[in-house]
Amino acid sequence: MIVDITVVADAEEAARLVAERLAEQTSTGGSIVLTGGSTPRHAYELAAELEPDWSRVELWWGDERCVPPDDERSNYGMAKAALLDRLEVEPAAVHRMRGELGRDAGASEYDEEAAYLRVGTFDLVLLGVGSDGHVASLFPDFPTLDMRNRDVVGSEAGHEPFVDRISMTVTRLCATRELLFLVTGEDKADAVARALTGEPSHATPGSLVRAAEGTTRAVLDRAAAAKLDETALNR
Ligand code: 6PG
Repeated sequence: MIVDITVVADAEEAARLVAERLAEQTSTGGSIVLTGGSTPRHAYELAAELEPDWSRVELWWGDERCVPPDDERSNYGMAKAALLDRLEVEPAAVHRMRGELGRDAGASEYDEEAAYLRVGTFDLVLLGVGSDGHVASLFPDFPTLDMRNRDVVGSEAGHEPFVDRISMTVTRLCATRELLFLVTGEDKADAVARALTGEPSHATPGSLVRAAEGTTRAVLDRAAAAKLDETALNR
């Protein structure tokens, strides 16, 4: 499935584009799945400025590190500081993964809460890509990539920070009307080329996730797009 790729000059511009998309979805309403890592932080800050009323959306997370919410490695904690604490009106619901329960209990709890059969299709899933090609906490060649009958799984870490993880599965992440990758930096260029334009492969989890019911887009800065070939950018 073809990914609609937008390349901008730098990380600031990439964050702004993604913030605009988040703000637009927020005004329309629906469900948004946030990603962790450090790349989206600025996009979240800008999104809170652009749209301070998030009462029409429910927020979810694609993955979490198994730490308490106030730990500096917590994906929820990052989104709270960058986004939630800056809003005038809070989201209709904030479905955080409880990393502090540990990977098995935390994953079981969220597997029920975010079950496709209960929640249905998401409107917007935001994802980063790791330098090894991972997305959410689905790491290269891990058995979690094949767990298609679950919505959420527990996992060991395959990348820094080395704490256990809770992650939506490939099938759950794909059950969305739009899947949006935000990736910046030259250390991601190889992974980006494999994830967005390579053959689907367990060696690159990003190549396995595409919106099942809509569009898959990517916002990249020039550095992250450096290894894409021209045909991928002009189609
Ligand atoms: C996590 C993530 C993960 C992240 C990538 C990119 O919990 O670590 O959700 O999949 O998106 O590792 O992270 P950076 O933005 O920090 O490079």
